[in-house]
Amino acid sequence: MKDISKFTCKLLSSNDFYVITDYERLHLCNKEECLQSSYGSIDRCLSSGCSIGYFMDQMLVGYTLANYTDFTVGYIEKSFVLPSFRGYQIQMNSTEQVLKLLADHGVKDVYTMVSPCNAVSISNLEKLGFKFLRKIMVNGVDRNIMFYSDATDRR
Ligand SMILES: CC(C)(COP(=O)(O)OP(=O)(O)OC[C@H]1O[C@@H](n2cnc3c(N)ncnc32)[C@H](O)[C@@H]1OP(=O)(O)O)[C@@H](O)C(=O)NCCC(=O)NCCS
Repeated sequence: MKDISKFTCKLLSSNDFYVITDYERLHLCNKEECLQSSYGSIDRCLSSGCSIGYFMDQMLVGYTLANYTDFTVGYIEKSFVLPSFRGYQIQMNSTEQVLKLLADHGVKDVYTMVSPCNAVSISNLEKLGFKFLRKIMVNGVDRNIMFYSDATDRR
């Protein structure tokens, strides 16, 4: 069993913007698997106080980005883990912490989007309690909208 405790977990901030945009550009080239996030979305998530990163020796190795609206609706924009650090359940752990942070901000309902081909991500989201809501097309590719109700349970 791979041990996640060797990583340091931190709240992300605007200081992490450039490393994240580099990772997105270098690693997210297959839009059937996962779309790149816009600079605006990354910026909003880093300012929200609800985005979490995992670090190894000061290097960001994985993250979950999220934000929320004034209407207490949360949105998980993205989970990403550098290929050589996959398998430590960084998506599950960072998303779980993000759900707690969203709950601390009064968020009850959380949405996210995932490719129907992304079996690892769908399985992780289902384990966390997300349910399939409906299919949509985004930038010409299929996506599943998934919904998590009552994030306040995680306080
Ligand atoms: C989805 C993602 C964040 C999951 O990373 P993770 O938290 O390290 O994944 P897990 O620890 O849950 O991995 C579970 C298993 O799947 C494997 N795995 C993880 N990601 C994989 C991938 N993209 N392809 C194939 N296998 C993968 C792991 O090695 C592990 O196998 P093991 O149990 O034999 O060690 C990561 O694959 C990723 O960054 N993908 C690209 C971006 C993406 O698709 N994001 C989600 C939608 S926005």
